[in-house]
Amino acid sequence: MRIVLVGPPGAGKGTQAAFLAGNLSVPHISTGDLFRANISQGTELGKQAKAYMDAGNLVPDEVTIGMAKDRMEQPDAEHGFLLDGFPRNVAQAKALDAMLQSADMKLDAVLDLEVPEDEVVKRIAGRRICRNDSAHVFHVTYSAPKQEGVCDVCGGELYQRDDDSEETVRTRLEVYHTQTEPIIDHYRAQGLVVTISALGKVDEVTERAMAALRGEN
Ligand code: AP5
Ligand code: ZN
Repeated sequence: MRIVLVGPPGAGKGTQAAFLAGNLSVPHISTGDLFRANISQGTELGKQAKAYMDAGNLVPDEVTIGMAKDRMEQPDAEHGFLLDGFPRNVAQAKALDAMLQSADMKLDAVLDLEVPEDEVVKRIAGRRICRNDSAHVFHVTYSAPKQEGVCDVCGGELYQRDDDSEETVRTRLEVYHTQTEPIIDHYRAQGLVVTISALGKVDEVTERAMAALRGEN
């Protein structure tokens, strides 16, 4: 399956993607994680992306589209993928349409995670991520690690993202409304959008998402 996950910052895209990708046996491709990996490795691409990310703005399309395309062309993505954080504006959505069309492929669904703004702010404020693996995501109250600051899965150090400060989160939400939300209409016109509430426990949201992808809601 080829799926795009969309939703505001902190909606739980990364959290759900980890489970959904496992259930669907497709790779989880997160442009945010790819940028963060480049930043921690000190690559040229990471250097280009960092200032935009720290300010809560989108990294320019010229950088992002090429990076996403390279990742989608890896052998493990040949039979499907779960895109998280890409596309993020209409230009990127059109670039993805063209990429898929030229490979004679189609998206199966665009899963839209709906969460009220006050909840995403709480989720982001309490988020802690493992330095060893960005799929190990915790929350100081909603899914607290057994030992403060230590990853339950691998013992790695937990940290707070640089762009999770209150001011940057406000910019990210604004960018989501003005630049990313329009892609929902773009895909609605293609009959691909399924919207679910992302409120409730993580496993309840996963169940809801799987049911929606099976066409059951
Ligand atoms: P990116 O990394 O994509 O960030 P984002 O879209 O802002 O989303 P987040 O990672 O903040 O949230 P999430 O929805 O994954 O939530 P999570 O599962 O962690 O992008 C970062 C930056 O990179 C952008 O600002 C931009 O600069 C750049 N970028 C990336 N892609 C780009 C692109 N295509 N073009 C241009 N620039 C790009 O959950 C959040 C917290 O809530 C966690 O603590 C989690 O434990 C908790 N939680 C999750 N689910 C639940 C639940 N059901 N109940 C309670 N708590 C929950
Ligand atoms: Zn870990």
